Amino acid sequence: MTQNLADTSRPSRTATDAASAAADAGRGWWRDAVIYQVYPRSFADANGDGMGDLPGVRSRLPYLRDLGVDAVWLSPFYASPQADAGYDVADYRAVDPMFGTLLDADGLIRDAHELGLRIIVDLVPNHSSDQHEWFQRALREGPGSALRDRYHFRAGQGVDGELPPNDWESIFGGPAWTRTTDPDGTPGDWYLHLFAPEQPDFDWDHPAVADEFRSILRFWLDMGVDGFRVDVAHGLVKAPGLPDLGTHDQLKLLGNDVMPFFDQDGVHEIYRSWRRILQEYPGQRIAVAEAWTPTVERTANYVRPDELHQAFNFQYLGTSWDAAELRAVIDSSLAAMRPVDAPATWVLSNHDVTRHATRFANPPGGTQIRERGDRELGLRRARAATLLMLALPGSAYLYQGEELGLPDVTDLPDEVRQDPSFFRANGQDGFRDGCRVPLPWSGTSAPYGFGPAEGGPSWLPQPAEWAELSVEAQTGDPTSTLELYRSALAVRRTHAALGAGREVDWLPAPEGVLAFRREDFTCLVNTTAQPVRFTAPGTLLLASTDLTVVDGETVLAPDSTSWWAA
Ligand code: NOJ
Repeated sequence: MTQNLADTSRPSRTATDAASAAADAGRGWWRDAVIYQVYPRSFADANGDGMGDLPGVRSRLPYLRDLGVDAVWLSPFYASPQADAGYDVADYRAVDPMFGTLLDADGLIRDAHELGLRIIVDLVPNHSSDQHEWFQRALREGPGSALRDRYHFRAGQGVDGELPPNDWESIFGGPAWTRTTDPDGTPGDWYLHLFAPEQPDFDWDHPAVADEFRSILRFWLDMGVDGFRVDVAHGLVKAPGLPDLGTHDQLKLLGNDVMPFFDQDGVHEIYRSWRRILQEYPGQRIAVAEAWTPTVERTANYVRPDELHQAFNFQYLGTSWDAAELRAVIDSSLAAMRPVDAPATWVLSNHDVTRHATRFANPPGGTQIRERGDRELGLRRARAATLLMLALPGSAYLYQGEELGLPDVTDLPDEVRQDPSFFRANGQDGFRDGCRVPLPWSGTSAPYGFGPAEGGPSWLPQPAEWAELSVEAQTGDPTSTLELYRSALAVRRTHAALGAGREVDWLPAPEGVLAFRREDFTCLVNTTAQPVRFTAPGTLLLASTDLTVVDGETVLAPDSTSWWAA
């Protein structure tokens, strides 16, 4: 059965869009930037120890330049015991030896700039590692230590303080509190950790904490970085008195409600002070918030003109492959950003969620999927979803490996897993290792060029079928996902309408189909399992699957996206 796209006549470009596009010109590189997330431990391993490193990233920068991205965001590479893959930082100004040295970081930043790539580093201000000097001293010095005020130490409840100070639960499962042992060996106070026990939360009411992070920002800005991705940006400020939540079904509330530990209004003052620092530096340095808020409207609070520049759009990431839902989230995202004059952002995958090729291979079911699903369907939809994302006005985030169409590795044996949430939740949850498996670059046997030696180690095992997904295997194959990404990013560079502006002009389209236009560019998305016939709205720029022509009409294949120029 075929459907006819009702009308693809060109709507007039709205005055607002024309004005905003003009205003956007020359107004901030980030507004329509494509930013590629590197997860350093899984990107490229230069020294052959099975763990990716900064020299590895450095050696692959030309690949990223040729891919066509504008900037690279690096997940944490700082000194860390790696209780949460580096999101537990022991020294914010040092590179962990497993990733290299500060000199390597310096060289990486310089090389990137020479190649025209910007570098964004991760900043983890909600918590430190329990091995951080402040926390270690706070423990060592015992009750009364001034260092304890920089974290949330509290007496327990119950007759002997044997119960946690409140009912908050860790995002990784179990109580958000761990009891300390005093220097004399007796049970002592408890400390708060919204994530693993090895990640104690800072108390941002303490001026030394704020001062320290302003200094850390300057340290990396002086090193030349172009911006920061702010981890748990919504978590820094806790409600006064740390009130109980009153429920033990907390994970259901996460992201749906303002919590006493998330999305408190007080966080915004912190970001105002950071914005002032960023503005002192030349070259448009930016910050992007990782803020899981209940609504896109609350996300917009983080990107008011005197706060951060961007915030991840997790509502978009969580949307299923459904035209009506996609259109609704695109409209609400653009509308939410308009009053604060921030660009919308779009993202489909990152190191915390199941890769979109696997999410879309399964029935809708959130962002943590454990089933392999229908691989072919997942990849078809993933390719179409990417072209949709890259056609939207604003900035887009890519996660390493999605350009290869990598699926999640859903059958990792439990004994190789390292995600702390897997262990905290007794293996019931926490399957983030599946999206963190090292990239295949070349060759026919593991580690597929991830490390220098054939048969060498990789910190998580790569599946045998990844040989055919390697960069080498896909390069030059016009049907490959890698070449689709390369073409898409090249088109995005030559057609300014992609990524520009703040609006999309929706065209009438049958159910399950999205059609929109901006300037001389049209994007058509068929989310259904049926082919759709339509009259070509111009010249084909790119399509996620082959288009055929039947009786003079173009047929858009099921689960596909195509780009057109008038
Ligand atoms: C968000 C990071 O993306 C995630 O990987 C980490 O576990 C938590 N924040 C805690 O830092």
